[in-house]
Amino acid sequence: MQETLDAAPQIHVDPQFRADVLNGLKEPIPAIPARWFYDHRGSQLFDAITRLDAYYPTRVETGIMRANATAIAAAAGTGGAMVEFGAGSVTKTPLMIDALDPDHYVPIDISGDYLRDAAAGLMADHPDLAIDPIEADFTGPVDLPDEIRQMPRIGFFPGSTIGNFVPRSATDLLRHFRDILGDGAKLLIGMDRIKDVRRLIRAYDDEEGVTAAFNMNLITRINRELDGTIPDGAFAHEARWNEMLGRIEMHLVATRDVDFTVEGEPFHFAKGATIHTENSHKYGPRAARTLLLAGGWTPTHEWTDPDDDFALILAEAQPNRFAP
Ligand code: AVJ
Repeated sequence: MQETLDAAPQIHVDPQFRADVLNGLKEPIPAIPARWFYDHRGSQLFDAITRLDAYYPTRVETGIMRANATAIAAAAGTGGAMVEFGAGSVTKTPLMIDALDPDHYVPIDISGDYLRDAAAGLMADHPDLAIDPIEADFTGPVDLPDEIRQMPRIGFFPGSTIGNFVPRSATDLLRHFRDILGDGAKLLIGMDRIKDVRRLIRAYDDEEGVTAAFNMNLITRINRELDGTIPDGAFAHEARWNEMLGRIEMHLVATRDVDFTVEGEPFHFAKGATIHTENSHKYGPRAARTLLLAGGWTPTHEWTDPDDDFALILAEAQPNRFAP
């Protein structure tokens, strides 16, 4: 059966990835959501980013957690259920599980593989911890296990992942977390601070070229999964600071006029035109708390590093008080 032998290897393509790329490239300002960075190679590259000297957020946030573990536990309370939004980091999650000593740990992630890894890694060191993983996109509906509804609940959203969302979506997401976790719940969230622009840019355009490879891997993924014909070298990595909107933007910039197809659909980019691939919003102290308040969370405690490069904020879903 010649046909079968010649057929290209079948790869599973997420229909949402196809839709996001084809629609995103047709936008007046072409853009592809940042979540599509994280295929297998992209996840490995992000891991490498977190170990770069120039990429301070992971190191600084972990340092804040270590230095304040006792105070965080005193403010957040121990026991109960810890619900983590996104894949549990191998460093931060054990740190906070040791500090908060929850009875239940509920990691929510879109990737079953990550959930299995996270669960397996924790099981050995925490034999008494009940792990109830939920395979879901945390921006959509999430059903918490019945037994944790009666317990104190704390959401854990480290890494400044909230920065990937524009404030309007970030507010929606925080309100969604409040709906999932319910009245009285707490949220421990990491947010990156506004700082010297050169340091910000270096964190997203490191000399080793790891962030560039992370950004460019999206092109490799489009070519592989969506039968793309984007030529090597046609796009280059760029990190920009948007002062008005307080965010680092990552773009793929056309290095020349270029034509290509994705799933047979033709696209043209003039030299200098870009595909916007990521936003990473940074928040000063007041803006960080206002964002939380707008999302229905009252900040109660805040921990930072000595240089105030990063903030770990504890907030509470308090009952609504409109007056006075
Ligand atoms: C995982 C979203 C927090 O925005 O700093 C790192 C992703 N992108 N380098 C960030 C990222 C480029 C990261 N977050």
